[in-house]
Amino acid sequence: MGPSFSSESGFGLKSSDFGPDFIWGVSTAAYQIEGAYNSDDKGESIWDRFTMDYKNIHEGQNGQIACDFYNRYKTDILLMKSMNIPHFRFSLAWSRLIPKGQGKLNTAGIDFYNRVIDLCLECGITPWVTLYHWDLPQALEEKGGWTNREILNWFETYVRHCGRLFGDRVKNWIVLNEPMVFTGAGYFLGAHAPGKKGLKNFLPAVHHAALCQALGGKILRETVENAIIGTTFSCSQITPYSTKRRDIKAAKKADALLNRLFIEPSLGMGYPVKDLKILRRLEKYHKPEDCKNLIFDYDFIGIQNYTREVVKHSFTVPYIRSKLVSAPKRNVHTTLMDWEVYPKSIHAMIAQFNAYKGIKKLIVTENGAAFEDTLINNTVDDKRRQSYLKEYLKEVYRAKKEGLAIDGYFVWTFTDNFEWAEGYYPRFGLVHIDFETQKRTIKNSGIWYSGFLVDQ
Ligand code: FCB
Repeated sequence: MGPSFSSESGFGLKSSDFGPDFIWGVSTAAYQIEGAYNSDDKGESIWDRFTMDYKNIHEGQNGQIACDFYNRYKTDILLMKSMNIPHFRFSLAWSRLIPKGQGKLNTAGIDFYNRVIDLCLECGITPWVTLYHWDLPQALEEKGGWTNREILNWFETYVRHCGRLFGDRVKNWIVLNEPMVFTGAGYFLGAHAPGKKGLKNFLPAVHHAALCQALGGKILRETVENAIIGTTFSCSQITPYSTKRRDIKAAKKADALLNRLFIEPSLGMGYPVKDLKILRRLEKYHKPEDCKNLIFDYDFIGIQNYTREVVKHSFTVPYIRSKLVSAPKRNVHTTLMDWEVYPKSIHAMIAQFNAYKGIKKLIVTENGAAFEDTLINNTVDDKRRQSYLKEYLKEVYRAKKEGLAIDGYFVWTFTDNFEWAEGYYPRFGLVHIDFETQKRTIKNSGIWYSGFLVDQ
């Protein structure tokens, strides 16, 4: 850990300062919380398969049980209600609804999400549903997954079913979660499911994800009356390591890849090929009409920000000739993920997305932090998480005061959960989970957030 964390003194903000229409919530994802990985005819997903190889995940862990949300959703949604949380973002597991990815629907899966949605509504909690948070049905991966253009058909059918099944009660929809991360980590680096590597997998996965992003929006528009449709992007402020021209150029390339790759085609600007030449190779996967089909007029854009990246030129990194200078190397304050705590990044990203023409609403659909938590006498006194959230919220508020569009904020995440390749080690929750007993304990950050939400 680097130097000590700046004090959180002078927070002084109330949720009402953000205006009466500001949306406050918490975000989750199916594979990270549900468990019940093979219950009631659920099909296998790429994360079920990827975690079977213990080398892929910290300490060989997996999401087979996770937070057991599948069986404990009542406890968790009632807890959420008791914490005054008005909006709950969760994702649908495609393989729970359509076990093989296409074809037969699974009634038990449909019933489960109906119960979750109905209970939210009974509790006065608005559900925000993500259609795809990284857990592709394994049966589709066996046909090439995101690298196969057929995914446009598979996805279209899946979205149509979801809209038809849940659209009478769910009005807020998110098409994809962070396409840059699931294509980059899953199809280029091989660090996430399905563990594929290289440009030959990455480029087609990118193009098909970008097309599905728009297609999903169009299908929801057709199937759900009064739908509010968005999609989410990972984004981090990019700072050049030095004022040298080649570091500045490297930072520009990283920005094109990490922050611009998916939003710009959806706005009709095409891929950012000018600033990242390698993206020209995407053309190979283009069919006539694709340029038009990459565009969708979203009701909102979700940005997800945790940190910033410092970028430097590198001769050795292929294609992009840039590399990240890790936070531990820079001796700055970090979270357990080794991500720099840098609140100004969220302001910079709100500003960067505001500069695009055509974004109607902007919502922070994820922000949060993992720190070492200790449960003592039923208490988790997670001061650093509280400081982190407050410091980032101050920056969101600053953006709002400056007149930038920013319409909501969701904390990542409600309960501690399975953090992908990092397993259960980094805890991001407002609520602590003892994974041996499944006992839930609201952390002090959760107590603070629930008071903040009702202006106490
Ligand atoms: C985001 C993911 C989310 C969670 C957080 C920490 O990239 O969308 O599932 O893992 O990071």
